[in-house]
Amino acid sequence: MPAFKTLDDLDDGQRVLVRLDLNSPVEDGEVQDNRRFDRHAETVRELADRDFAVVLMAHQGRPGRDTFVSLEQHADILADHVGHPVQFVPDTFGDRAISAINDLDGGEILLLENTRMCDEELPEEEPTVKAETEFVRALAPEFDAYVNDAYSAAHRSHASLVGFPFALPAYAGRVMETEYEANTAIAEREFDGNVTMVVGGTKATDVIDVMTALGDRVDDFLLGGIAGELFLRAADVPVGRDLEGMDLFDEQWEENRETIEHLLDEYQTQIHLALDLAFEDEDGERDEIEVGDIEEKDRAFLDVGSNTVSEYAAFVENSEAVFVKGALGLFEDERFADGTVGVLEAIAETDCFSVVGGGDTSRAIEMYGLSEDDFDHVSIAGGAYIRALTGERLVGVEVLQDGN
Ligand code: 3PG
Ligand code: MG
Repeated sequence: MPAFKTLDDLDDGQRVLVRLDLNSPVEDGEVQDNRRFDRHAETVRELADRDFAVVLMAHQGRPGRDTFVSLEQHADILADHVGHPVQFVPDTFGDRAISAINDLDGGEILLLENTRMCDEELPEEEPTVKAETEFVRALAPEFDAYVNDAYSAAHRSHASLVGFPFALPAYAGRVMETEYEANTAIAEREFDGNVTMVVGGTKATDVIDVMTALGDRVDDFLLGGIAGELFLRAADVPVGRDLEGMDLFDEQWEENRETIEHLLDEYQTQIHLALDLAFEDEDGERDEIEVGDIEEKDRAFLDVGSNTVSEYAAFVENSEAVFVKGALGLFEDERFADGTVGVLEAIAETDCFSVVGGGDTSRAIEMYGLSEDDFDHVSIAGGAYIRALTGERLVGVEVLQDGN
C-alpha cells in the first residue's frame, strides 16, 4: 500500500487546515452528538496540544435536505469532546473566514462554516479541477499544511477533500490513519485461520459487492437482515418478498435475482443462511419459527432466530478475523436485537481480529452496553467502509498517497 504522511511527519506549531467528517443526524434542527465527534476530537486535541493553529472544515447534510444546517452547534459539541474552546465563523472562505484565520494563535481552534454552503464544494469533479476552485485558492495560502481526517467522506471528490493536497503539503489525521489500516486489512493482511464476514443490512447490492470482491478471501459469510432474506428466497424458502404496504424486497429481488442465485451457487459452502427467523406475535412479543416450517410469508421477519445466533457464534469462535457489515435484524427494537447483539457479543468474547462497520451497525455496540475496546476497530464510516472492503478506490485517500 502506498503510504501517506501522518501527523508524525509534521513539525509542531504550524498553521494547519484540517478536514473532519462531522456529518451527523439532525432532529428538529438539533445536531445529535455521535462517535464522529469523539474520534475526531483526538486528532484536534493532539494538534492543539502541539501548538498548531487549527482551522477545521467539515460538511453537514446536502442542500435541500433538513439535515443541511450550519456548523455552529458542531463547534460546541466538538469543544466538549476536545476539552478546548472551538471558535466558529459563519463563512467558508470569504473575508470573515480569512480574518478569523489570521486572528488565530497557536493552540487555538476555529471551525469554518459547512463546506457544502460553498457552490464549488459538491459537484463531483477530478481532484485537479477541484484544486483550481476559488475555495481552495483563497484558503490554501493561509496555511503551512493540510490534514485530511475525513476518512468516512473519502469516497467523495469534493473540493475540501481532494483539492488542497495539490496546493499544500498533505497529511492523514489519526482517524484517517486508523480507519484506513483496519478497513483494508481484509484485502491486505494475511490471516492464518478462518476469516468470517457477517453481512446483513437492507441493501442487497452491498452484500453482493462484498461477496463478489471477497469470495476468495473470506471462508464464511454469515447472512441476515433484508439481504439475508433475499438469499433465503433464492434458496427456495418462501420469504424475501413484500407483504402489503412493504417496499423492501420485490424490487431488489427483480434487480438482483440472477446475481444472488449465481453467488449462492458459486459460494454454496461459504454462505450460511438463517436457520430460524423471529417475528412479532399477536401479543407483541418476539416469537421464532424454523425456516423449514415456513409455508408462506404471512408476516414480517425482523431478526434471525436463536438457533441461527448459536450457529453464527460458533463460526465466530473459530475465526482468526471477523468483519461485520450490516445488522442481522431490527436491533433498534429491543425485541429484535438478539441476532445483531448476539454475534457482536461472540466477537467481543473471542480473541479474534475484529472490525465492525457500516454506520448503523456500530450503533448497536453503544445501544446494548458493549465496549468498543473489545473490538479491534469500530468504523465511523458508511459508504467509505463498504468501498474499502470491496477494494474500490477512495479518491480522498489516493490524493494523500500521491505525495503531493
Ligand atoms: C457520510 O455521512 O456518509 C459522509 O459524511 C458522506 O456524506 P454524504 O453521503 O452526504 O456525501
Ligand atoms: Mg452517506
